[in-house]
Amino acid sequence: VQEPKLTTFDDNDQKPVGYGRMLRKEDPRLLRGRGRFTDDVQLPGMLHLAILRSPFAHARIVGIDTSAAEAAPGVRAVVTGAALAEQGLAWMPTLSNDVQAVLATDKVRFQGQEVAFVVADDRYQARDALELIDVEYDVLEPVVDVRKALEPDAPLIRDDLEGKTNNHCFDWETGDKDETDAVFARADVVVSTDVVYPRVHPAPMETCGAVADFDAVEGKLRLWSTTQAPHAHRTLYAIVAGLPEHKIQVIAPDIGGGFGNKVPIYPGYVCAIVASIVTGKPVKWMEDRSENLISTGFARDYIMRGEIAATRDGKILGIRTNVLADHGAFNGTAAPVKYPAGFFGVFTGSYDLEAAYCKMTAVYTNKAPGGVAYACSFRITEAVYLVERIVDTLAYELGMDPAELRLKNFIKPEQFPYTTKTGWVYDSGNYEPTMRLAMDMAGYADLRKEQEVKRANGELMGIGIAFFTEAVGAGPRKNMDILGLGMADGCELRVHPTGKAVVRLSVKTQGQGHETTFAQIVAEEIGIPPADIEVVHGDTDNTPFGLGTYGSRSTPVSGAAAALVARKVRDKAQIIASAMLEVTVADLEWEKGRFQVKGDPGKSVTIQDIAMRAHGAGDLPEGIEGGLEAQICYNPSNLTYPHGAYICVVDIDPGTAQVKVRRFIAVDDCGTRINPMIIEGQVHGGLTDGVGMALMEMIAFDEDGNCLGASLMDYLIPTSLEVPDWETGYTVTPSPHHPIGAKGVGESATVGSPPAIVNAVVDALKPFGVRHADMPLTPSRVWDAMRGQATPP
Ligand code: CDP
Repeated sequence: VQEPKLTTFDDNDQKPVGYGRMLRKEDPRLLRGRGRFTDDVQLPGMLHLAILRSPFAHARIVGIDTSAAEAAPGVRAVVTGAALAEQGLAWMPTLSNDVQAVLATDKVRFQGQEVAFVVADDRYQARDALELIDVEYDVLEPVVDVRKALEPDAPLIRDDLEGKTNNHCFDWETGDKDETDAVFARADVVVSTDVVYPRVHPAPMETCGAVADFDAVEGKLRLWSTTQAPHAHRTLYAIVAGLPEHKIQVIAPDIGGGFGNKVPIYPGYVCAIVASIVTGKPVKWMEDRSENLISTGFARDYIMRGEIAATRDGKILGIRTNVLADHGAFNGTAAPVKYPAGFFGVFTGSYDLEAAYCKMTAVYTNKAPGGVAYACSFRITEAVYLVERIVDTLAYELGMDPAELRLKNFIKPEQFPYTTKTGWVYDSGNYEPTMRLAMDMAGYADLRKEQEVKRANGELMGIGIAFFTEAVGAGPRKNMDILGLGMADGCELRVHPTGKAVVRLSVKTQGQGHETTFAQIVAEEIGIPPADIEVVHGDTDNTPFGLGTYGSRSTPVSGAAAALVARKVRDKAQIIASAMLEVTVADLEWEKGRFQVKGDPGKSVTIQDIAMRAHGAGDLPEGIEGGLEAQICYNPSNLTYPHGAYICVVDIDPGTAQVKVRRFIAVDDCGTRINPMIIEGQVHGGLTDGVGMALMEMIAFDEDGNCLGASLMDYLIPTSLEVPDWETGYTVTPSPHHPIGAKGVGESATVGSPPAIVNAVVDALKPFGVRHADMPLTPSRVWDAMRGQATPP
């Protein structure tokens, strides 16, 4: 476990470099309540917008009477789908080339769908007027069960799509079916498990919202909004609304958590824009908690059958999987165009095997649209969960220790770059030391002994292991785009005459600490202290184009851009330094923050001296323009593939079936570590997410399509009471193609922790013969599993 040679410092003093623990530059603002979030934006004359939502999951709209609402105090406008349709604005594209209703015109297709909006002088008047809108619905039979959606007599949900006769959304397959079938046919052991990854919701602390301000004289739209991808949103607004792109400014101010929930464009944003254009005033729309939970992008909702084939002595030969994916009423998945199932293709995990095949069918149902990547790189969470569950079922079948089975099947370090059977090229990895470190930290052998003793006493203790490989940093232009936009990131760096710098990013933090880590990356390269580097992001008028922050892509893509743009500035600085010191460029060497003459370190100039010289009077070397700045657009050559080994220890109360996570050991490898303190924070957050998904979170529906998770009273999220003191460790396997060797980490823990927890619970229930139980493992589900009644998928 070797941290690469990094200069570290413990506080925000003026040391010249670079990587290491550093308190977050944004925290003084955020911790003192001085952050500026979308709902903090107050503009003169601003109006407020509220949305009327459907109480039914499936119903035809017979008529809407808005007259009483229009006459209500303070109301400026009431807009229905019919009015939007007259302007060609009733429908908008989704990120997956489907269309979604901005306001319903013909039918409502999920409970909570947008039907009309009111604009009024204040928020209360807008909300009150919603109650006065009279909508006549002709209620239709809802399609809630994903398996029933494909039955021939199932009600048709998407009759808006020409020629559509069923609820089929798309089919997708990857790997080699024949080869995989052949491997399965000759395997000693085949284990098959049905696994459900339930619908969950990212539930960020701040809900979604926007303030739209259209200036008719300038012809300019300013939109403050809760977006993880300001530039991509700007382009989409230009396409949807027909406004020229240079006349749209999207500003993403401070964001209170995104986790994928703030990637899609929601009808509310478009309604706010329309409302500002119609009224000529700035208009604010902010969701409440229930609106966020019932109508914005959910995640997961995959029903999976996983099969694993192996030899009797535990060599994994192949994996076969069949997935039924619930995409809700409109396909709003956020995934690169060529990946309709996102990066689910990494379902072969961290194992070297001979063949793999996956077939997926996606369907429409009367549920909220989405399928966003909730803190994961486009469906990797589902893939990792599946493979880590079925590897455990194989260990059970073979009577092998699950750690030993994994160690036996890992891809070996010398096999990297490793091309998987589904076509992914893992850039680097060294799995065994990561696993061994986690086992050492856990005291694995002792834990197993303790478990034996406890089992003999009738106590239920479980030890769960998960090992994951993620694919983050979407992505190479040659094979990835979102709606035709290449997934590269721009970056611009300006060093001012006094040696202070500004770096402008296309990505946008939602709390991950970019204002600190990106300053550290630039600091490491040009030797200006991070405290002297301002990070500007989240404003399309003031930052270069790029596709935004999700799927842990900021460090792999924009982080690389920041390092390379700084190197470009350093190269120019070297030429200016050579003139200042009257030596050739080749005679200079770089020593953190200064160029010095080789063999004569006393003769040197600092980056600050050079900055002043670059802007100062007098000639510069021939061909060198004044100023010290550069910009680039970075197109990654591959994704980065972080990995990690997680071990979870649970105790289950045999009387109440309540699961307690006693210990959790997480060893992550994200290559070069920029700020270990921020990495630990990211890992802690992701692990907490994992406890939520494994033990308590689920967006369920009743048979009428009513959402049963519409408030935080029903949709449980974990608190500090449900989580243990996390035990974290790390190994470092740099990415070979990333300029500083860094891989993403933001989402690793959310991806890797649910299988570790579920594996631990199933392990605890071994005395009952339980081989699998589905998340969320609430006391009632665990109780059923103990009584041999695990909920069928
Ligand atoms: O795209 P997102 O920011 O959500 O994910 P990320 O690129 O994994 O970064 C999350 C946070 O961890 C950022 O502040 C990163 O700069 C930091 N990080 C780090 O310090 N070292 C790494 N190797 C990876 C991320």
